[in-house]
Parts: sequence; C-alpha cells; structure tokens
Amino acid sequence: MATHLIVLAAGAGTRMQSDIPKVLHRIGHAPLFAHALASASDLSPERRVIVAGHGAEAVEAAARDLDPDLAIVRQDRQLGTGHAVAQARGALAGARGDVFVLYGDTPLIAPETLAAMGQARRDGASVVVLGFDAADPGRYGRLVTCGGKLERIVEYQDASDEERRITLCNSGVICADAEQVFDLVEAVGDDNASGEYYLTDIVAIARDRGLETAVVTCPETETMGVNTRAELARAESLFQARARLRALDGGATLTAPETVFFAHDTRLGRDVTVEPHVVFGPGVAVEPGATIRAFSHLEGCRVGAGAVVGPYARLRPGTDLGSGVKIGNFVETKNARIGEAAKVNHLSYVGDADIGASANLGAGTITCNYDGVFKHRTTVGARAFVGSNTMLVAPVELGSDAMTASGSVITSDVPDGALALARARQINKDGMGKRLMDRLRAAKKKETH
Ligand code: UD1
Ligand code: CA
Repeated sequence: MATHLIVLAAGAGTRMQSDIPKVLHRIGHAPLFAHALASASDLSPERRVIVAGHGAEAVEAAARDLDPDLAIVRQDRQLGTGHAVAQARGALAGARGDVFVLYGDTPLIAPETLAAMGQARRDGASVVVLGFDAADPGRYGRLVTCGGKLERIVEYQDASDEERRITLCNSGVICADAEQVFDLVEAVGDDNASGEYYLTDIVAIARDRGLETAVVTCPETETMGVNTRAELARAESLFQARARLRALDGGATLTAPETVFFAHDTRLGRDVTVEPHVVFGPGVAVEPGATIRAFSHLEGCRVGAGAVVGPYARLRPGTDLGSGVKIGNFVETKNARIGEAAKVNHLSYVGDADIGASANLGAGTITCNYDGVFKHRTTVGARAFVGSNTMLVAPVELGSDAMTASGSVITSDVPDGALALARARQINKDGMGKRLMDRLRAAKKKETH
C-alpha cells in the first residue's frame, strides 16, 4: 500500500527567541523537519508535503535544498492543526493508501513506531493515533478510550477535570486512510476553547461515521517536541545517544561513546575505532578498520579502510583518504585526495591537493594554496618524500619519487625522481659562535654591576 506524508511546519515557534523558523533549527547538523522526514523514510513515501507558514520562504528554500521532490504548500494563517492538514488536500489529490501526519518540530519518532501505526491501519483502522503515557501530562491532548478503543481526543483547554486526569496523551502523529482523511478534516469545526480547527477532532468524527480508530503507543522520549532552546539541546542529546548506539550496533568501537558527537548522516564501517572526544560534522564516511584517534574533528570527508587519523586532526570538506593513510597530530586537510598508504604525520596543512600513494609529507609541510584571490592545486607524485617544513607554493607539481630538502620553498615543478633544494646555502664561521656568546655575557655582567 502506498504511503504519503504531511509534515506540519507552519507554527511560529515564539519560545525559541529566534529569527530562524523553528523547524530550521538543527540537531545532528540537519534541520528538525529533515529528522521528521527521516523517521518516515523506511516507509518509502510516495508524496511528501510540507505545510509552511511562519518563515515560509526560508522553510521552502531549505526543503528544496534537502530534496527537490518535496511538495510545499502554504498555510498563511495558522488556524489549527486540522486547517494545516487541509492545505495538503490539493497536493495529495487522488492519493490512496496511508497518510501520515508528522510535526516538523518533533524529530525523534522511531521508524518502528510508524511501522506499527501502518500495521494498525492494515488491521482495519481508518485513523490511527500515536499516543504515549505522559509522566507529566501537562497541556497535551488526552486520548479518551473505552474498553481499549479510542473514542475521541480532547484538548487540554476543553477537557473536564476528570479527562485531565487521563495520562494517555496525544503525540500529534496520525496515520489515516488517504481517501478519507480530507473529508474527515473538512468536517472539523472551530467551536472550542481555542477557536482552532483541531486535527484531533477527526477521531470522534470517524467514530460517528462508523469508521474504526486505534491507538499505538511509544515511549515518551520519541514524542518530544522542540519549543525552546533547552528542548533543542535535550533533543540533540537524545539524538546523540541514539546515534552512538547505532554506531556500536553497527560494529564500531567507541571507547567513550558519551564524548563522541555524530551528524545525522555519519557512516562508520565495521571495526572502526573512535577514541574519546571526536566530533563528526555532516557528510563523513569512515571505512572498515579505520581508527579515529582522540580530539579529531571531521566533516565532509571519506576515510579509507584501515586509515589512522589524529589525535588532534582536522579533516575538512573534500578530504578523501585512501586506505592505510596516516594523518597525525595537528594536521589540517581540505579538498585533498590523499593516496593509499601516504603519510602526513605532523603539523601540516594540505589543501587543494592530490597526494600520491605512499608519499610522505614531513613535519610542517604546508600547501600554500591561496594567493589572496585564487586557490591553486598542489600535486605530489607517488612515493615522493617532502622534507620537513617545505612550503609547496601552488600551483606546483612534484613528480613521483621526487624529494624536497627540509625548509624548501618550492615554487616550480620538480621532475620525477629529482631532489629539489630551495633554501639558502649554509655557511659555518669557525669560532664565531663562542666569541659572540662571550661578548654578550660580558655585556650583561657590566650592566648588572
Ligand atoms: C497538538 C495537539 C495535541 C497534542 C500536541 C502534542 C491539536 C489540536 N492538538 O497541540 O493534542 O497533545 O500537539 O504536541 O492538534 N501547526 C501548523 N499550523 C497550525 C497549527 C499548528 O502547522 O495552524 C503545526 C505547528 O507548527 C506544530 C504542530 O502543528 O509543529 C503542533 O502545533 P501546536 O500548536 O504545537 O499544537 P498543540 O496546541 O501543542
Ligand atoms: Ca497550539
């Protein structure tokens, strides 16, 4: 059966105290609404609709950026969750199967939970609501059940004292029959304490029409919505806890998992080891058997099988490390392909570069890639040996098996197998060191007397 998605993202998010629409705030380096979409990605939804309102232009741009196949509709005035869903009617015209309604500010719903809701639909319910048992039910909508069956949802503002004692609460996530949901929503009115069109009213309307309704429950942590910066931080921490478990389950060793930070798309292969205090920015793939040593920061890069990175390394976007590469302490790389088994072990900057297999860049090697206006490339051939403290002034090319003398400033190409010396010749002056020192010491003695 086909699945479709509506993500509600029109709300103001006033309590974020932000100029950025709430659903564009990030956890794991991805906007909140992208997490809502990701929860449903296992269901392979056919049509996905984002309902934008507050900050709609920014939300539209971010949605287009994430995936040009997303449909975006506008809800110019926020008249309630039912009204928000109604805006998606055109975009889902003729759709069959299941429609899931998710909130763009609720990023932690587990894929298994949505799968269970889909199953409840298959078991005969026209409308399935995701509920949870709230530790503190506060102002959540309450699920009114009778003999285990969902009768209706009552919003806190409209609830009696007795109804407010119910702890089974509405998460906001709904899965309904695509051919019925818009007719149900159309029947919703705004005659209630808030004067809003409540999506939650479709439960009672469905029951009145003789349709079946059902509740699926999940742990409260999944249903957490982000309304404040404090909640954003808490969602980040829950996301990280999950990402760490996923990495461990996938066969990576994390020596101190609680100190490793992941992005939404970090991929670690089997037998990868991650030492303490490592940060993964977006777009990192680490291949099997690689080791990321302590205090390293990686983003937008591939680390080949068996490579060793860090401690204290910084891999920036466009870094591609071949298998067995060694990147040592205080090394920064950017937009650099580093061939199999090459070594950059100490205190280097390698940017806009192609480094050949088994090349060795000595301590303090710098690619001088920027002339203040343009960026230029450096190419180093296979097995080349670059002496310590070499400045490679790009554009420049070192051939395979080439060498540079320590301290060289290399401004022209070096042929295959050649040694380049590009520094002043050394002169030794006999006895002069001692004579100079004696004179200085005598001068100091005079001064202190
Ligand atoms: C809603 C539910 C409540 C549930 C709670 C869970 C209704 C009537 N109530 O309440 O039962 O316990 O969520 O958090 O559905 N939105 C729009 N357009 C609108 C209104 C809302 O896009 O016109 C979006 C918001 O951006 C937000 C989501 O819908 O992502 C929920 O809206 P919110 O106002 O937070 O719902 P609650 O009143 O908290
Ligand atoms: Ca509200």
